Amino acid sequence: MSLTIAVAGKGGTGKTTLCALVIRHLLARGRKPILAVDADPNANLAEVLGLAVPATIGDILDETLHQPEPLPGGMSKDAYIEYRLSAALAEGQDVDLLVMGRPEGPGCYCFANNVLRGHLASKAQNYPLVVMDNEAGLEHLSRRTTNNVDFFFVTSDATVRGLRSAARVRELIDELGLAVKRRYLVVTKAPAGQPLAGILQEQVAATGLELAGVIPYDPLVAEFDVQARPLVDLPAAAVSVQAAEELFARVMAAV
Ligand SMILES: Nc1ncnc2c1ncn2[C@@H]1O[C@H](COP(=O)(O)OP(=O)(O)OP(=O)(O)O)[C@@H](O)[C@H]1O
Ligand SMILES: [Mg+2]
Repeated sequence: MSLTIAVAGKGGTGKTTLCALVIRHLLARGRKPILAVDADPNANLAEVLGLAVPATIGDILDETLHQPEPLPGGMSKDAYIEYRLSAALAEGQDVDLLVMGRPEGPGCYCFANNVLRGHLASKAQNYPLVVMDNEAGLEHLSRRTTNNVDFFFVTSDATVRGLRSAARVRELIDELGLAVKRRYLVVTKAPAGQPLAGILQEQVAATGLELAGVIPYDPLVAEFDVQARPLVDLPAAAVSVQAAEELFARVMAAV
């Protein structure tokens, strides 16, 4: 059984950045191989990992769904799709990446999602660790893409709106009865070296999530993003890395 770490939260609150920091942390502890999963149709986890963007599951489904029969080698449609999907894996040295993408055809989205879930479950068996980046919003929860998670990090920036969104994520996890072992709030991009304002602390409590920690605003993250440098290469001295290391060592000590 692989251990799954998932990140969700409002748009732009640092989900993808946190995934990179989790992966950086795991690699620094020699925990590999890792399967990274980009379940955001607007995919960009490949860039922060420094991997070449592979064919997405969406791309492959667009091609295979409309492939006229008979299929090569007399394969069934399911077997053919599974065979073609093996091309969707970007292989890195210690981290492989599976990108969902978004198929073009109307009405394909739920089907693509079911294929992703099935494909993900079979691929994940080969990895001790799975790290999953999600799209902003809540659909991935109701579609149950984000289910059977060991560590679920909900990101919020240091704003009331971000924290209210985090509360909705927590409510939906409960409502849907998703299998999530441990879930935490991570506040991101907060001013470094300052406690959270009182009004934010109230909202943190109202999320019903345990605050794992705060990742401060890090100018180096912004610089890496401007230069399209992989965030997994952030130096150990970066303020975001230091905060993330302290946070993960505490809440994921057993990992
Ligand atoms: N700790 C940080 N310090 C400085 N900038 C940050 C930090 N975390 C994230 N950012 C910046 O905030 C922006 C959004 O970050 P990121 O892409 O990780 O968010 P996201 O939640 O994945 O966004 P989306 O909802 O679009 O997928 C990026 O420009 C990123 O560089
Ligand atoms: Mg993102």
